[in-house]
Amino acid sequence: MPLMQWDETMSVGLDELDEQHMELIALINEAFEAIQRSDESRLMELVDHMREYAEVHFETEESVMRSCGFPELDAHREMHGQFAEKAEDFRRTMRSRTNLTEIFIFLSRWLTNHIMVEDRKLLPYLPPRNDEGA
Ligand SMILES: [Fe+2]
Repeated sequence: MPLMQWDETMSVGLDELDEQHMELIALINEAFEAIQRSDESRLMELVDHMREYAEVHFETEESVMRSCGFPELDAHREMHGQFAEKAEDFRRTMRSRTNLTEIFIFLSRWLTNHIMVEDRKLLPYLPPRNDEGA
């Protein structure tokens, strides 16, 4: 069973951001599987990819928030920084091989909560979608 699963309740109302969230979730799931198989080289690759992808995603999301006049942008940027720090922690911890599973469970819970509670605060600020109300 995957560690995380995206569903409609996690939609932030913008396909580009939803797709990036799905990709991040897929990377976390794949990395979690690599931990369970003790496949360290694959894990290393996936963690690097996840960190890079998260950085690109956070930039996209922050620029959407900026263009919508989202009032909590500064606080939101700080939260993104926390994820980046935890992912960096993970990279350091990988060498000592302790708590890998716990860190991944932390990252998955953080991301689920972040998307559902924090990212979704953007919804009221987005322009109406073309496919709605037709
Ligand atoms: Fe976010």
